[in-house]
Amino acid sequence: MPLDLPFEPIEWSNKMVTGVAAMDSQHRYLVDTLKRANEKLLRRDESMLLGEIARDLLNYAIMHFETEETLMQRYGYANEFPDLARSHIAQHREFSRRVVDVCEHLREGRPVSRVEVLKYLNEWLRNHVLGVDQQLGAFVRQAAAKHQAEPSA
Ligand SMILES: [Fe+2]
Ligand SMILES: [Fe+2]
Repeated sequence: MPLDLPFEPIEWSNKMVTGVAAMDSQHRYLVDTLKRANEKLLRRDESMLLGEIARDLLNYAIMHFETEETLMQRYGYANEFPDLARSHIAQHREFSRRVVDVCEHLREGRPVSRVEVLKYLNEWLRNHVLGVDQQLGAFVRQAAAKHQAEPSA
Protein backbone atom coordinates (compact mmCIF):
# COMPACT_ATOMS: atom_id res chain seq x y z
CA MET A 1 0.00 0.00 0.00
CA PRO A 2 1.41 3.45 -0.82
CA LEU A 3 2.83 5.27 2.16
CA ASP A 4 1.43 8.67 1.22
CA LEU A 5 -2.22 7.77 1.66
CA PRO A 6 -4.29 10.66 3.01
CA PHE A 7 -5.92 8.34 5.56
CA GLU A 8 -5.01 5.53 7.89
CA PRO A 9 -6.34 2.19 6.61
CA ILE A 10 -8.61 0.59 9.17
CA GLU A 11 -7.38 -2.28 11.34
CA TRP A 12 -9.37 -4.29 13.85
CA SER A 13 -8.45 -3.37 17.40
CA ASN A 14 -9.61 -4.57 20.82
CA LYS A 15 -10.78 -1.03 21.50
CA MET A 16 -13.54 -1.68 18.98
CA VAL A 17 -15.09 -4.47 21.03
CA THR A 18 -18.45 -3.52 22.56
CA GLY A 19 -19.17 -6.79 24.32
CA VAL A 20 -22.47 -7.14 22.44
CA ALA A 21 -22.00 -10.25 20.30
CA ALA A 22 -24.15 -9.24 17.33
CA MET A 23 -22.54 -5.81 17.10
CA ASP A 24 -19.03 -7.20 17.44
CA SER A 25 -19.35 -9.88 14.78
CA GLN A 26 -20.90 -7.42 12.33
CA HIS A 27 -18.24 -4.80 13.06
CA ARG A 28 -15.56 -7.38 12.55
CA TYR A 29 -17.06 -8.24 9.17
CA LEU A 30 -17.29 -4.57 8.16
CA VAL A 31 -13.70 -3.88 9.18
CA ASP A 32 -12.40 -6.97 7.37
CA THR A 33 -14.41 -6.16 4.24
CA LEU A 34 -13.15 -2.59 4.16
CA LYS A 35 -9.61 -3.75 4.78
CA ARG A 36 -9.79 -6.04 1.75
CA ALA A 37 -11.40 -3.23 -0.26
CA ASN A 38 -8.50 -0.91 0.60
CA GLU A 39 -6.00 -3.47 -0.61
CA LYS A 40 -7.86 -4.26 -3.84
CA LEU A 41 -8.72 -0.71 -4.76
CA LEU A 42 -5.30 0.69 -4.11
CA ARG A 43 -3.87 -1.93 -6.46
CA ARG A 44 -6.43 -1.52 -9.22
CA ASP A 45 -8.24 1.65 -10.13
CA GLU A 46 -11.44 0.35 -11.66
CA SER A 47 -14.78 2.02 -11.33
CA MET A 48 -16.58 -1.34 -11.67
CA LEU A 49 -14.66 -2.72 -8.72
CA LEU A 50 -15.33 0.43 -6.70
CA GLY A 51 -19.04 0.16 -7.54
CA GLU A 52 -19.18 -3.49 -6.46
CA ILE A 53 -17.41 -2.79 -3.20
CA ALA A 54 -19.59 0.23 -2.44
CA ARG A 55 -22.78 -1.78 -3.07
CA ASP A 56 -21.66 -4.75 -0.95
CA LEU A 57 -20.61 -2.52 1.91
CA LEU A 58 -23.84 -0.56 1.71
CA ASN A 59 -26.01 -3.70 1.81
CA TYR A 60 -24.18 -5.11 4.79
CA ALA A 61 -24.09 -1.73 6.56
CA ILE A 62 -27.86 -1.26 6.16
CA MET A 63 -28.46 -4.68 7.76
CA HIS A 64 -26.03 -3.77 10.55
CA PHE A 65 -27.71 -0.40 11.18
CA GLU A 66 -31.04 -2.21 11.53
CA THR A 67 -29.48 -4.50 14.15
CA GLU A 68 -28.25 -1.54 16.19
CA GLU A 69 -31.43 0.47 15.81
CA THR A 70 -33.48 -2.54 16.94
CA LEU A 71 -31.21 -2.84 20.01
CA MET A 72 -31.81 0.87 20.74
CA GLN A 73 -35.55 0.22 20.85
CA ARG A 74 -35.46 -3.13 22.60
CA TYR A 75 -33.29 -1.98 25.50
CA GLY A 76 -34.81 1.49 25.88
CA TYR A 77 -31.81 3.51 24.64
CA ALA A 78 -34.04 5.59 22.40
CA ASN A 79 -36.25 6.45 25.43
CA GLU A 80 -33.49 7.12 27.91
CA PHE A 81 -31.13 8.97 25.58
CA PRO A 82 -33.28 10.28 22.72
CA ASP A 83 -30.69 12.85 21.57
CA LEU A 84 -27.86 10.32 21.49
CA ALA A 85 -30.07 7.82 19.68
CA ARG A 86 -31.14 10.46 17.16
CA SER A 87 -27.64 11.61 16.35
CA HIS A 88 -26.43 8.01 16.18
CA ILE A 89 -29.16 7.16 13.66
CA ALA A 90 -28.33 10.35 11.75
CA GLN A 91 -24.75 9.09 11.38
CA HIS A 92 -26.07 5.82 9.94
CA ARG A 93 -28.25 7.71 7.45
CA GLU A 94 -25.41 10.03 6.43
CA PHE A 95 -23.18 7.01 5.71
CA SER A 96 -25.88 5.37 3.57
CA ARG A 97 -26.58 8.61 1.70
CA ARG A 98 -22.93 9.11 0.97
CA VAL A 99 -22.41 5.57 -0.35
CA VAL A 100 -25.61 5.70 -2.44
CA ASP A 101 -24.24 8.92 -3.89
CA VAL A 102 -21.01 7.16 -4.88
CA CYS A 103 -22.99 4.36 -6.56
CA GLU A 104 -25.08 6.90 -8.49
CA HIS A 105 -22.04 8.86 -9.62
CA LEU A 106 -20.47 5.66 -10.91
CA ARG A 107 -23.65 4.57 -12.66
CA GLU A 108 -23.84 7.91 -14.44
CA GLY A 109 -20.22 7.61 -15.48
CA ARG A 110 -19.17 10.63 -13.44
CA PRO A 111 -15.65 10.65 -12.01
CA VAL A 112 -15.23 9.37 -8.46
CA SER A 113 -11.97 9.52 -6.54
CA ARG A 114 -11.42 6.11 -5.01
CA VAL A 115 -8.94 7.53 -2.51
CA GLU A 116 -11.54 10.09 -1.38
CA VAL A 117 -14.18 7.38 -1.04
CA LEU A 118 -11.82 5.10 0.88
CA LYS A 119 -10.78 7.96 3.13
CA TYR A 120 -14.42 8.62 3.98
CA LEU A 121 -15.22 4.94 4.60
CA ASN A 122 -12.15 4.28 6.74
CA GLU A 123 -12.55 7.39 8.84
CA TRP A 124 -16.30 7.03 9.23
CA LEU A 125 -16.12 3.38 10.30
CA ARG A 126 -13.25 3.90 12.74
CA ASN A 127 -14.80 6.99 14.35
CA HIS A 128 -18.26 5.48 14.51
CA VAL A 129 -17.24 2.13 15.98
CA LEU A 130 -14.90 3.76 18.51
CA GLY A 131 -17.41 6.51 19.31
CA VAL A 132 -21.18 6.22 19.42
CA ASP A 133 -21.19 2.43 18.97
CA GLN A 134 -19.15 2.09 22.18
CA GLN A 135 -21.75 4.18 24.06
CA LEU A 136 -24.58 2.07 22.67
CA GLY A 137 -22.75 -1.18 23.37
CA ALA A 138 -22.08 -0.24 27.01
CA PHE A 139 -25.75 0.67 27.48
CA VAL A 140 -27.02 -2.54 25.91
CA ARG A 141 -24.61 -4.65 27.95
CA GLN A 142 -25.79 -3.07 31.20
CA ALA A 143 -29.45 -3.19 30.27
CA ALA A 144 -29.19 -6.84 29.26
CA ALA A 145 -27.44 -7.72 32.53
CA LYS A 146 -30.15 -5.93 34.54
CA HIS A 147 -32.84 -7.64 32.55
CA GLN A 148 -31.41 -11.06 33.30
CA ALA A 149 -31.13 -10.28 37.00
CA GLU A 150 -34.80 -9.35 37.23
CA PRO A 151 -37.37 -12.02 38.01
CA SER A 152 -39.12 -12.86 34.79
CA ALA A 153 -42.65 -13.04 36.23
FE1 LIG B 1 -21.99 -0.23 14.32
FE1 LIG C 1 -23.85 2.62 14.84
